Amino acid sequence: MLKRISALVLAGLTAMAVTSCGSGGTTSASSGGGDSTVTMGFSQVGAESGWRTANTKSVQESAKSAGITLKFSDAQQKQENQIKAIRSFIQQRVDVIAFSPVVESGWDPVLKEAQNAKIPVILTDRAVDSTDTSLYKTFLGSDFVEEGKKAGQWLVEEYKDSTDKVNIVELQGTTGSAPANDRKAGFQEVIGADAKFQIVATQTGDFTRAKGKEVMEAFLKSTPDIDVLYAHNDDMGLGAIEAIEGAGKVPGKDIKIITVDAVKDGMQALADGKINFIVECSPLLGPQLMDLAKKVVNGEQVPARVVTEETTFTQEQAKQALPSRQY
Ligand code: AHR
Repeated sequence: MLKRISALVLAGLTAMAVTSCGSGGTTSASSGGGDSTVTMGFSQVGAESGWRTANTKSVQESAKSAGITLKFSDAQQKQENQIKAIRSFIQQRVDVIAFSPVVESGWDPVLKEAQNAKIPVILTDRAVDSTDTSLYKTFLGSDFVEEGKKAGQWLVEEYKDSTDKVNIVELQGTTGSAPANDRKAGFQEVIGADAKFQIVATQTGDFTRAKGKEVMEAFLKSTPDIDVLYAHNDDMGLGAIEAIEGAGKVPGKDIKIITVDAVKDGMQALADGKINFIVECSPLLGPQLMDLAKKVVNGEQVPARVVTEETTFTQEQAKQALPSRQY
């Protein structure tokens, strides 16, 4: 009997832990175990890419090992879902809110609500464009402009002996997102110094493989003589490879491909010669995020900006790195 009652209580608790968040997005709660003193509300962008899956895993596992209770909400790439999730975290009086903003603009009102409720906010992975930086305690993540520059520098080096025009097509990330804005700007800044580099078509592929394929198919039909594809992440690049092969061309040879992220599937395509260069963007932000969260909750001083360390990969470097690649 006791066993049945325990099972029922457990089932009830599990049902409570996975709940729906308003009309969109999903929320789940997991306890870090031990005597956890900090509760974090985390609003994730979605599950659009291999990078995002690895980032979610890193956040969830790190919360567990840091003894932080995590209320995790998936916004399914919609800003309105993130705003709802943040409001719900405020109502639940979590100790700290962390989120990776889908887009850069439009956050001031909800961040102000968190500030009025005296709940500290940490930005992770992506930035917001608020001019009032008192609305969040710190921003942990990559330098996306630098990533775009690294992509451009590889291209400049690759074509240094040629004077011919280089036709580039660009698959942008989610419109209005920090990585899409910054990777475009950094790349443009570097290639803009030489008029032979021309972006002949550019469109969003929303950071997904399916959209990357669809947009690349359209590029291949509308744009003759594509020399280079610059995709703002691996997933869009991998989708584009399918489109290129479908059009009877050889990715990595007929069309050179540069991507960002360096997730396993991307690295495999790089090692196989289908991608030519990848700029790393690390999703393993969990441990640093939990560390910052504890400090912020304890009222300790934290740096306003924590930049992730990252590298780049050529085809040869990918072959060496693949066996020990974590994500
Ligand atoms: O914000 C990081 C970006 O978001 C990654 O580069 C991309 O894969 C993801 O969807």
